[in-house]
Amino acid sequence: MKLICCKDYEDMSKHVAQDILAEVKANPEIVLGLATGSTPEGCYKYMVEAYEAGEADFSKVSSVNLDEYVGLGPDDDQGYRYFMNKHLFDHVNIDKANTYVPNGLAKTSEEACAEHEANIEKLGGIDVQLLGLGGNGHIGFNEPGESFVKGTHIVDLTPGTIEANARFFESIDDVPKQAYSMGVGNILDAQKVILAVSGTRKAQALYEVIYGSICPKVQGSILQLHKNVVIYADEEALSVIREKGLL
Ligand code: GLP
Repeated sequence: MKLICCKDYEDMSKHVAQDILAEVKANPEIVLGLATGSTPEGCYKYMVEAYEAGEADFSKVSSVNLDEYVGLGPDDDQGYRYFMNKHLFDHVNIDKANTYVPNGLAKTSEEACAEHEANIEKLGGIDVQLLGLGGNGHIGFNEPGESFVKGTHIVDLTPGTIEANARFFESIDDVPKQAYSMGVGNILDAQKVILAVSGTRKAQALYEVIYGSICPKVQGSILQLHKNVVIYADEEALSVIREKGLL
């Protein structure tokens, strides 16, 4: 794992965007695995700026998202398809037909998961997967548990995750209790993984992801097994690692 120390959220966002933009330049037909949440918002902002400045071309890029809430559709302003349109897709020249987000409105969870798996396969796998980190160490919506799950699956969100994500909803009761998420197997299959981490709320989880044992109670710890992981973390997120004298 390669750890890049960044000053703050802005600095982290710039570094992550530069990394992704360099990958897109090197491979214009790249398949990006994309994430939602507040962590990647700044990165998407810089990607849009690069596009507007004529420095980036997304016309041949495809993308596949990590997760989506069960029951939320593309027009739902708390849904992840809506998020992607709002923060990135509506502002760059990506062909939305080549962008995939799990279908929160599928008739059954089996259908939603099979469709997402089929889309990942159709794209030939993910070249670069962007990840945020949950305060409990989750990646995508792979919540702490007794095992790691390989493929796209339905997840019961933990009370902590529901609470953490309530800030995006009118009230905590509006937060869906379930989500579809890629499994850690999908993530490990990506050629390269970029993990972006910001804020003291993530500091303990980041320490465990990098230095803890590989354990499903901290799902992100599985990234230790991947050969090409770059972590961009800001000083707040690095605080526990620094306190322990590891940096
Ligand atoms: C959310 C998402 C994850 C995200 C993480 C961190 O619940 N499902 O994909 O990376 O938790 O979110 P945030 O960046 O808003 O802190």
